[in-house]
Amino acid sequence: MPGTHNTTTTATGDPLARFAEDVAQSLQQTPRRIAPMYLYDALGSALFEAICQLPWYRITRAEHALLARHAAGILAAAGGVPQIVELGPGSGEKLAHLTTAAREGAVIDVHLVDISDAALDLARRTLQRTGARITLHHGTYEEGLRQALAARRASAPVLVAFLGSNIGNFDPPEAASLLAAIRAALAPGDSLLLGVDLVKPERTLQLAYDDPIGVTASFNLNVLRRMNEELGADFDLARYRHRAVWNAQESRVEMHLVSTRRQDVEIPAAGLRFTMEEGESIWTESSYKFTPERVDALGRTAGFTPGRPWVDAEAGFALTLFTVDATRP
Ligand code: AVJ
Repeated sequence: MPGTHNTTTTATGDPLARFAEDVAQSLQQTPRRIAPMYLYDALGSALFEAICQLPWYRITRAEHALLARHAAGILAAAGGVPQIVELGPGSGEKLAHLTTAAREGAVIDVHLVDISDAALDLARRTLQRTGARITLHHGTYEEGLRQALAARRASAPVLVAFLGSNIGNFDPPEAASLLAAIRAALAPGDSLLLGVDLVKPERTLQLAYDDPIGVTASFNLNVLRRMNEELGADFDLARYRHRAVWNAQESRVEMHLVSTRRQDVEIPAAGLRFTMEEGESIWTESSYKFTPERVDALGRTAGFTPGRPWVDAEAGFALTLFTVDATRP
């Protein structure tokens, strides 16, 4: 029945305990870090949605336009009416282009995987309006993918959608192993739709990740607020600055929270006390940028066959459908 839904929750324990453990571990590394997935609590997800509307941040709009224009072609290349698993659906509006295009006579099965309940909820509401049958999986990409594929029907191919250049958050070895894990979970005839942001001039990247009206700075600083609220931390938000830098060597934009002075930090729920030096930073995100050749290689190395990409050359964004070839193991 269209419009029905259910939610599965991964049995990986208390999310708050996991957050505390991760923070305890990553903030003691050199340099100090926080995993980017923790940027997305309810407020962080709302701020990210606002980022997507900034004139300086073009990924979302470019991808929307490509999906709107090529929805029918993408579905045809993915085997007609695939079951779709989207990793990190955001508002769900991008996938809606595909589910709407598939609607003629068919109810499309959509599995949404996210660690943000707010995002899952929003995406569900958006996609239900398109008549899709929705299942939610609260958890990490790999956990959710496993759950979603356990529920697959034998009759239809699976299309995994990994959009918005979310792959850019992963370091190259992690990206390779995530794609290999996706490939290993799929069968011949299945496919992966990957959206990636392409390398572009430094000035353009700088504005995209340090916008003049401070939405990205708020998005970044919010993770400190979140730790204060959820872990009882005592970060003084006024004493940290958002910094985005293009690391050309590594082909990534890095987001940092820089301490404007020497200050002590206590995070009771993580059992952590430490001193931030003046100018020391907490590294919250990497956003890798790709060349078309690199995208191709990434998919091939994972065992996929790349199709010809749909590209917005002006915005510097590419959508590629990678297929699992029946003739190759
Ligand atoms: C959602 C991870 C693709 O890296 O461009 C936006 C997140 N960070 N502005 C990105 C983000 C700062 C975004 N991804």
